[in-house]
Amino acid sequence: MNNVSIKAFQLAFLLFLTTAVIAVVKKGGMAEGESMLHDTHISISEKIRKEVISMLNLSLASTADLYNQFKQAHWTVRGPSFISLHKFFDETAQSILEHVDTIAERIMSLGGTALGTTQSIGKHTQLSAYPTDISSATDHIKHLAHNVAMLGESSRNNIKRAEELGDIATSDIYIDLTRFLDKYLWFLEAHVTK
Ligand SMILES: [Fe+2]
Repeated sequence: MNNVSIKAFQLAFLLFLTTAVIAVVKKGGMAEGESMLHDTHISISEKIRKEVISMLNLSLASTADLYNQFKQAHWTVRGPSFISLHKFFDETAQSILEHVDTIAERIMSLGGTALGTTQSIGKHTQLSAYPTDISSATDHIKHLAHNVAMLGESSRNNIKRAEELGDIATSDIYIDLTRFLDKYLWFLEAHVTK
């Protein structure tokens, strides 16, 4: 190899390395399995479906985490209002589960893969981790209200993004989820503020 060939080889190798690094960095922000699409005749382009599926999988992780957090509160709350809060947290958890199911089934309808495993929920949830050393009603409610508000904000933003992408059916799911979260934020805040 002469000097020119060596330089050309070095340049080509550098370009290959750069491309590989960019690909790895891009993949780092994605949930596993989300780049693979199942065949479907749905009239939404692959590009749009990939973005919507990615958005829905993040919501799936956070909503499933919220379900677990309400169950955690259901089990561990203590104090004079135990019975009413014990029941309220459980009923709310069951209602959240319906939204988890709707989100997961929308992902499948779009040809995606719902990432609902415990490992995926832990990796992708946007919520603050639930403290295991709290027991008072006020501490439980404040923590839940913080996460319900956070998920409500994310859901509200997703209404607009799904609409911008022309996926009105997904936007409708987020309208329903946002309305639900806003209502339960009110319920929680009414417990701790005048
Ligand atoms: Fe129970």
